[in-house]
Amino acid sequence: MGRRALPKLDPAIAFSTYISEVDDLQAPFCPQSLFSQTADLEIEIGSGKGLFVLNESGHVPERNFLGNEIAKKYCRFAAYRLAKSERTNAHMLRGDGLKLFRDFLPDECAVAVHVYFPDPWWKERHRRRRVIQPSFIADLQRVLIPNGIFHFWTDVEEYFDEAIELLKEHSDLTGPLAVHETIAEHDMDYRTHFERRMRKYEHDVFRSQFKKS
Ligand SMILES: C[S@@+](CC[C@H](N)C(=O)[O-])C[C@H]1O[C@@H](n2cnc3c(N)ncnc32)[C@H](O)[C@@H]1O
Repeated sequence: MGRRALPKLDPAIAFSTYISEVDDLQAPFCPQSLFSQTADLEIEIGSGKGLFVLNESGHVPERNFLGNEIAKKYCRFAAYRLAKSERTNAHMLRGDGLKLFRDFLPDECAVAVHVYFPDPWWKERHRRRRVIQPSFIADLQRVLIPNGIFHFWTDVEEYFDEAIELLKEHSDLTGPLAVHETIAEHDMDYRTHFERRMRKYEHDVFRSQFKKS
């Protein structure tokens, strides 16, 4: 399943204030500095076209949402949509999410971390590029506040099983806690674009949640 071409961006919508580069960050980094309000923070790695950050920043305006995406064109598109909707509580960071967690995010800065449909990197020699790996799990545990939640969904059962085992082995997070499928009330009522696509093609989606004590 290839990814559809992105729609054209309206040049009248300025979105440069909605996007920053991971490689331009300086330690120590305070993620709250990206937002106009200081508020509970949710972070997503691999936001793709940004449906999750767009929807959730609208549903929960009292929280801040930081999306992260390595692919420039998707990250720009996600930032553009945030600008178009005039979100003041959402921002996109372009660059490697593993680096963002390893080098920049401070301890206990996030109430939730989200990873949805991460690239499976099927080839054995590419496996180390997977987001769910021991070093990331250590950073995830450090970055979440007590009672913070990690959300992990994928359509790849083998990645799901491996990730659950890694999370059990390398963290004290409680889980996996069950997450049930909800009924979509309209075409944008999905957690992410990939969830919409998987459900449209009736593919399985494996969902989990973990909680930090
Ligand atoms: C399969 S897509 C899923 C996109 C979105 N989460 C969704 O569910 O629609 C995975 C996304 O993760 C991004 N990605 C892969 N490795 C990444 C990394 N190390 N840091 C940030 N983004 C990454 C890819 O560019 C891609 O857009």
